[in-house]
Amino acid sequence: MNQDNILEIRNLSVNFPVTGGFFKRKIADLNAVDGINLEIKKGETLGLVGESGCGKSTIGKAIIKLLKFNSPDVKVSGEILIKTEDGEIDIIKLKNKDLRKYRGYIQIVFQDPYSSLNPRMSVGQIIEEPMKYHSKISKKERGERIAYLLEKVGMQPEQAKRYPHEFSGGQRQRVGIARALATNPKLIIADEPVSALDVSIQAQVINLLQELQSEFDLSLLFIAHDLSVVEHISSKISVMYLGNIVESGLSKEVYHKPVHPYSKALLSAVPLPRVSLEKNERIILKGDIPTPLNKPSGCGFRTRCPIAQKECAESIPPLELKRENHFAACFFSK
Ligand SMILES: Nc1ncnc2c1ncn2[C@@H]1O[C@H](COP(=O)(O)OP(=O)(O)O)[C@@H](O)[C@H]1O
Ligand SMILES: [Mg+2]
Repeated sequence: MNQDNILEIRNLSVNFPVTGGFFKRKIADLNAVDGINLEIKKGETLGLVGESGCGKSTIGKAIIKLLKFNSPDVKVSGEILIKTEDGEIDIIKLKNKDLRKYRGYIQIVFQDPYSSLNPRMSVGQIIEEPMKYHSKISKKERGERIAYLLEKVGMQPEQAKRYPHEFSGGQRQRVGIARALATNPKLIIADEPVSALDVSIQAQVINLLQELQSEFDLSLLFIAHDLSVVEHISSKISVMYLGNIVESGLSKEVYHKPVHPYSKALLSAVPLPRVSLEKNERIILKGDIPTPLNKPSGCGFRTRCPIAQKECAESIPPLELKRENHFAACFFSK
């Protein structure tokens, strides 16, 4: 594992069994994540972008090892390495009993602040819960930490006694962020943390995450379906399509000089003055994203790609260096 990295994902694949018929036999494998590589440096934010269904949340869940809970037959392969004070650890190989020890290292902020907070628990109890499992601190210290964290996310300590339904979406997401911070994590996975919020408060929550990141020296995996959401907060961006990473590079490079036709298409959806694409580079995506059950041969994007040629159906383009620190998986785009 690279010295500066907090997380390194190597060749991660995730397959969900698809069952059918009277006996609910397995009839197919849904390949949600197809051999991806990612790395996040200490204190860095990586933006992970792509349309709904491309596998972003599956990567997040694999990192916090949640997948097994929802679908027992899921197959995960590859390596998910994290750096801890005990050295390098592969989350995939970690036994459940050892998992608890490292759970606090990585926390997640969910997309929907309405369904991700238990309505029967007070805000204080919600923030306290992960501390009970992860740290050996007294009740009094936990109370102090709840007050401290509420202030850090821009709320008042007295609000600990109130319940989620008493708050707006933006405030609930602040509570979700305070809960994620409770165990003093090294890495936070923010899975579309602002998608369910009004546009007017999205920026506030993104700014808050950015402030907390530098204050707590956090590393962040910031997931979004919209490139413009991740541009400012991320130092690097990876673009996903149908379980693969199709482009990866420094944020301003990917945002201002995208290489892959899919990234160009995603940017075409962004309002004009912010993007410096040439007119003839604007691409409007046609059709829906294919299902991972029925992936096109060769390049997964070719069925929607304006520059696809015969070769694109024959072999899968590798993610290769196109410019300095800037990778894309396309035979024809430069
Ligand atoms: N528990 C599951 N069982 C079966 N298929 C799943 C499960 N979770 C996700 N999928 C499928 O995996 C693919 C990727 O899903 P997901 O990671 O949620 O995408 P994203 O977060 O990018 O919208 C989708 O086709 C989705 O239907
Ligand atoms: Mg998702």
